[in-house]
Amino acid sequence: KSYRVAILGATGAVGTELIELLEHRNFPLSQLKLLASPRSAGQTIPFRGESLTVEAVADGCFKDVDLVLASAGGSTSKQWLPQAVEAGAVAIDNSSAYRMDPQVPLVVPEVNPEAAFDHQGIIANPNCTTILMAVAIYPLHQVQRIRRIVVSTYQSASGAGARAMEELKTQAQAILNGEDATPSVLPYPLAFNLFPHNSPISEGGYCQEEMKMVNETRKIFNEPELAITATCVRVPVLRAHSEAINLEFEQPFSRARACEILSTAPGVVLQENWQSNYFPMPMDADGRDEVLVGRIRQDISHPCGLELWLSGDQIRKGAALNAVQIAELLSRESGDASSPSLSSSSVQR
Ligand code: A2P
Repeated sequence: KSYRVAILGATGAVGTELIELLEHRNFPLSQLKLLASPRSAGQTIPFRGESLTVEAVADGCFKDVDLVLASAGGSTSKQWLPQAVEAGAVAIDNSSAYRMDPQVPLVVPEVNPEAAFDHQGIIANPNCTTILMAVAIYPLHQVQRIRRIVVSTYQSASGAGARAMEELKTQAQAILNGEDATPSVLPYPLAFNLFPHNSPISEGGYCQEEMKMVNETRKIFNEPELAITATCVRVPVLRAHSEAINLEFEQPFSRARACEILSTAPGVVLQENWQSNYFPMPMDADGRDEVLVGRIRQDISHPCGLELWLSGDQIRKGAALNAVQIAELLSRESGDASSPSLSSSSVQR
């Protein structure tokens, strides 16, 4: 079976990656519709040897679509996805709009693939830093329960979209040239600087990005009480996020055992060279599907603690790849004609 697919937000950083992944992973599609704002209507984008024209999202545009991959921000998803589902499509949404909705599965295929099949038309793709952390720590959590997570992130400009990446480049150049470097996309200069994550401040002084890591990890792991605290920071890296993660388990967890588990964990590459002090870096994670994990250390401050470090491509596994993997899960299941996972019949209105 092949699917009629639409990408909502096709001209953005994640949308661009979605197009490339659908092409290179040979997703079974019979039609690809590229949707964005009216600003981009008429732009052409190559796909499988053809030139596709971007359309402005509009009423009725989902009527011949089976699958929508959305990455155009929360308000755009809220505005258009109910209509897409009503028209019979299944939507995989990259925005935060539906992630904590109890009716909507929040899926990382390496962690909770079964949840993807329990949808009512919309499936949510988690926040990027949450996906990267979940892929790295879930294999350990399965062997021995994690009691508490303390995570600090080092997030690239790509998380704020294609325009933020462009701003970092031009700003770095402007600073080197001694010119004005006033930002217009991000709130503060990112070149040669860093700042606490620019999402709005919410509960107890945590920013929304930090609370996404807390709440989404709990939902994906199906561990509503899991203790998690996060500090999210934007750093002057173009693409790929890094995270320093401290894990406290219920029992001591040896470094050797953790390395053994992570060396065969799905979606993870263990990358450690202690002689040369070489560990995951965003420049090595850039463009890769896997989350690079390393610097696994016994926590000297706690008998049941482990430290680890990771870098992962925010646009790929942190967003577009995870969404395409969810689509692949559904399409594999739909290969069996009796399964309704990627068809309107699974939508209970
Ligand atoms: P456009 O390029 O026409 O503005 P990024 O995350 O890289 O900033 O990309 C955001 C994506 O979401 C772009 O494809 C952008 O299209 C799209 N987008 C933003 N606002 C809307 C909207 N109101 N309706 C449709 N698409 C939108």
